[in-house]
Amino acid sequence: MNVVVTHGPQETEAFGGRVAKLVRPGWLLGLEGDLGAGKTAFVRGLVRALGSPARVHSPTFSLMNRYAGGRMEVVHLDLYRLTSPEDLVPAGLEEPLLRPEGVTVAEWISRARFDGLPHLRTLRFRWIDENTREISHDLPGL
Ligand SMILES: Nc1ncnc2c1ncn2[C@@H]1O[C@H](COP(=O)(O)OP(=O)(O)OP(=O)(O)O)[C@@H](O)[C@H]1O
Ligand SMILES: [Mg+2]
Repeated sequence: MNVVVTHGPQETEAFGGRVAKLVRPGWLLGLEGDLGAGKTAFVRGLVRALGSPARVHSPTFSLMNRYAGGRMEVVHLDLYRLTSPEDLVPAGLEEPLLRPEGVTVAEWISRARFDGLPHLRTLRFRWIDENTREISHDLPGL
């Protein structure tokens, strides 16, 4: 397990930028961690570093945003409001979780309680203090 400590949202975005160098089509990144832990900040840096001009914001009500225009498409899910894993199917969320075409990034991935996501890589975000976050992951080379 690797641990990265960031001091301010820009450093969390920069870490997303480093992950952008590794990601390949078909990856599912699951982001865990409390409200305000920096998950959306990470996605913002990832999307920007992939070259998309899209504005990243929390898909809180839509549950899903898509960011095109970069090296690969990013599908951004926020499963916080998911009350039951069965709701994934009518919301059209099953496909990007099971078979990402570009990269799928899912905040609150544990809400899905999916078995059989062999392509899932989990990153855990922890609030340390107002400006400090800790990110644990097992991505190689970071
Ligand atoms: N080191 C840091 N990394 C990331 N965000 C930080 C950091 N320090 C302070 N912040 C602030 O914390 C907030 C992080 O919010 P963000 O929306 O990324 O969290 P989140 O994990 O996506 O929360 P939610 O579960 O509500 O979607 C932002 O307001 C950001 O400015
Ligand atoms: Mg968020």
